[in-house]
Amino acid sequence: MDQDFLSLAMPQVQSLSPYIPGKPIEELQRELGLTKIVKLASNENPLGPSPKSLAAIEGELKHLTLYPDGNGFALKSALAERFSLDIHQITLGNGSNDLLDLVARAFLGQGREAIYSEYAFAVYPISTQAVGATGIAVPAKEYGHDLSAMLAAITPRTSVIFLANPNNPTGTWFDRQALSAFLAAVPDRVIVVLDEAYTEYVGEAAFPNGFEFLNAHRNLIVTRTFSKAYGLAGLRVGYAVSDPAIADTLNRVRQPFNVNSLALIAATAALSDDEYLQRSFQTNREGLALLAEGVRALGLDYIPSVGNFITVHFGRPAQPIYQALLREGVIVRPVANYGLRDALRISVGTLAENQYFLEALTRVLGSVHDGARSPDSTAK
Ligand SMILES: Cc1ncc(COP(=O)(O)O)c(C=O)c1O
Repeated sequence: MDQDFLSLAMPQVQSLSPYIPGKPIEELQRELGLTKIVKLASNENPLGPSPKSLAAIEGELKHLTLYPDGNGFALKSALAERFSLDIHQITLGNGSNDLLDLVARAFLGQGREAIYSEYAFAVYPISTQAVGATGIAVPAKEYGHDLSAMLAAITPRTSVIFLANPNNPTGTWFDRQALSAFLAAVPDRVIVVLDEAYTEYVGEAAFPNGFEFLNAHRNLIVTRTFSKAYGLAGLRVGYAVSDPAIADTLNRVRQPFNVNSLALIAATAALSDDEYLQRSFQTNREGLALLAEGVRALGLDYIPSVGNFITVHFGRPAQPIYQALLREGVIVRPVANYGLRDALRISVGTLAENQYFLEALTRVLGSVHDGARSPDSTAK
């Protein structure tokens, strides 16, 4: 068949490697016919949604013939109230992923550069390349952002810098002082995106709240999501907070109804459920400690994390371990696409899920043939 039309795709799209999501439970069920499957692969909230979100969705179902409020007034008002923001600072997205894409479409393109860290969230290079801009991946420092090196990478072509705090998949973070110094040193003409997708899980006293820097830095965009600690990954809703002029710019490239009505109402309800948020935090704290202790007891090294996941080194190619875990009914996340071939990322589950994973891993490590040592295991 003549496929000449494929060459019509923009060159940057032809060479793009798509995002690799965690394996869906149903897919593994189809493949292996397993009945019990534990998915710790996509940094999802293991508690199920907030009862308040579920109740709100039920009430909204009968209105599904109507378009959603394209301006998301109720959710924006709730966010503004909760975080003492001006409603005009807020842009809503179909997940915070959508907002990263909107930033790229609004501020990047051919001839422009975006800076992000090595091992930073995979969507930054994808969104950058998709619009024909050049991504500059700055080597990481102990798996975290090397903010000085990122500053040094700024050129006259730099339009956007993506920061993830904490970062996925490493779980690393930087403190208030480091962020403050970084923002003070970035030229005003460069947009800084501070991705705080996991901020609600962080308990460290020195961890910064990006919102506090917005007044002093009009080039700053803080993104957050309802997918993680608020437990609504399936509905897709996130938000960006910025100077109203930036929000106005993002709004120009936004789809008119980018956040659906169930997502809007469920997120508004989730925001009012402090008990749920606290339970998400506590469950995660305990689970993270259990997983860290469990893998340490198995003689494994891991990257200390403040997110709802932990990346574990195996000192050898991790793919066979990933496969063996699948056969045990446990889905985790390979991170070879980040250059971490000797590691797997494990999302924090419920207590029972975390224990199930550790038991499965113990069996797997006892049986998986010791493959060749990977370069990652020695390059730490
Ligand atoms: C660092 C980071 N930012 C953003 C996102 C996007 O999440 P969502 O689009 O569900 O808000 C993720 C999801 O895993 C993430 O890890």
